[in-house]
Amino acid sequence: MRRERVVETLGLTVRFGGVTALDSVNFSLAENELRCLIGPNGAGKSTFFKCLTGMLKPTEGEVHIEGENCTGFDPHAIARLGVGIKTQVPSVMNGLTVRENVWLGARRSNRSRKADRITAETLERLAIADLGSSLVDTLAHGQRQLVELGIVLAGDPWLILLDEPAAGLTAEEVELMVSIIQDMNANAALVIVEHDMHFIRMIADTVTVFHQGRVLLEADVETVLNDEKVRDVYLGKRT
Ligand SMILES: Nc1ncnc2c1ncn2[C@@H]1O[C@H](COP(=O)(O)OP(=O)(O)OP(=O)(O)O)[C@@H](O)[C@H]1O
Ligand SMILES: [Mg+2]
Repeated sequence: MRRERVVETLGLTVRFGGVTALDSVNFSLAENELRCLIGPNGAGKSTFFKCLTGMLKPTEGEVHIEGENCTGFDPHAIARLGVGIKTQVPSVMNGLTVRENVWLGARRSNRSRKADRITAETLERLAIADLGSSLVDTLAHGQRQLVELGIVLAGDPWLILLDEPAAGLTAEEVELMVSIIQDMNANAALVIVEHDMHFIRMIADTVTVFHQGRVLLEADVETVLNDEKVRDVYLGKRT
């Protein structure tokens, strides 16, 4: 069966003054694929991610989602396509409880009664039901990360974009994050920017390696982690 390509970028280029952060990137993601983006600091991962989420307009090139040219769409317009986005900057609402935060995620695309049900299911799924009445302000970092995932999940997205979901998590929380991501992948395609190689090994299928704004290599996780060029750019031997 031929899988639909749900995300494509064509010649995606971003320049900041004299700096070319992204240089003619052609990228393609299939339906229900789970793709990790890795690369050394400054490689262009976040810049690429922000072009997909609509946080950044490319200098040149195009972003297509489900065949529609979405170049220059703002984040709300991207979200309306059924895309769930978790950025590095926390997007939970302080002053509200965990349950209220997740409910707002569910309410975006559902009536109130259904949002109640989805909220309860989502809290169960993330094993944070006991935190439902806690103000998000009072949570530890790892718990807040879970709430953010809950907000994303409650919107029932078919495409999920996650920026460093494992950052700052304890080993135990990382394990939980892995199982949640695998569960999410049953119903959605994912693009995940991540630094933690241990985490990537646990979840990744195909990995795209960025270096100096270009795609250095795209292959299965073991090939990537054993590749000499990839090792060199991480160790800084090749500039
Ligand atoms: N808003 C900006 N203004 C100017 N230069 C920028 C801006 N954002 C990114 N850059 C530059 O673009 C290049 C790519 O940055 P980007 O943040 O995409 O890298 P990254 O792969 O996400 O790195 P890291 O792993 O450190 O998060 C870097 O040289 C960076 O300094
Ligand atoms: Mg980054």
